[in-house]
Amino acid sequence: MGNVFVFDHPLIQHKLTYIRDKNTGTKEFRELVDEVAMLMAFEITRDLPLQEVEVETPVTIAKSKTLAGKKIGLVPILRAGIGMVDGVRKLIPAAKVGHVGLYRDPETLKPVEYYIKLPSDINERELIVIDPMLATGGSANDAIHSLKKRGAKNIRLMCIIAAPEGVEVIKRDHPDVDIYLAAMDEKLDDHGYIVPGLGDAGDRLFGTK
Ligand code: PRP
Ligand code: URA
Repeated sequence: MGNVFVFDHPLIQHKLTYIRDKNTGTKEFRELVDEVAMLMAFEITRDLPLQEVEVETPVTIAKSKTLAGKKIGLVPILRAGIGMVDGVRKLIPAAKVGHVGLYRDPETLKPVEYYIKLPSDINERELIVIDPMLATGGSANDAIHSLKKRGAKNIRLMCIIAAPEGVEVIKRDHPDVDIYLAAMDEKLDDHGYIVPGLGDAGDRLFGTK
């Protein structure tokens, strides 16, 4: 645990280029984020445990496999995390979805929690916290603290782009949490934006600004 995985799958990297492009409009941006989230979910779930079962095919009884062990919970950080949920749910449709509402105060860059609603059994689930951006790390850090305070035991963090500063914060405060990324960028600018990044993920997803 406490590992950082950067997915270098060609499809993820190709789509990420268009996500970064400032000329990509809201509709295409949303579609690309959805597709990258789905591809990342495929990679993240590689280590889920399996159990052997029997299934009756039209021909005979076959030994086959189904997922075993803990059920999955998705926890998007509002608002930008919402843009990744449908993509992940295409692969894990039975996952329950909790929400943590946080925004970064533009002056202090500190996260402010304004909403939380979680499945009742989060302590029994493998939770995937979802947010396209891990910048200072404040938002994801607070979200993970909130989940642990409420009993969560197994948490993974899935972001499209991270800054090294944010990754260090999560590794320091939550060494039990693995981090999954499509890209590790260079740095933060003076306003806490990831460089080169993609700009403001929430605004680009929802067409606000
Ligand atoms: C963005 C992003 C993360 C956070 C990352 O959200 O979606 O939640 O910033 O920054 P941090 O690592 O420095 O905390 P924002 O606060 O802009 O809110 P929004 O999703 O509602 O647009
Ligand atoms: N939040 C964003 O949406 N983009 C950044 O670059 C940093 C935080």
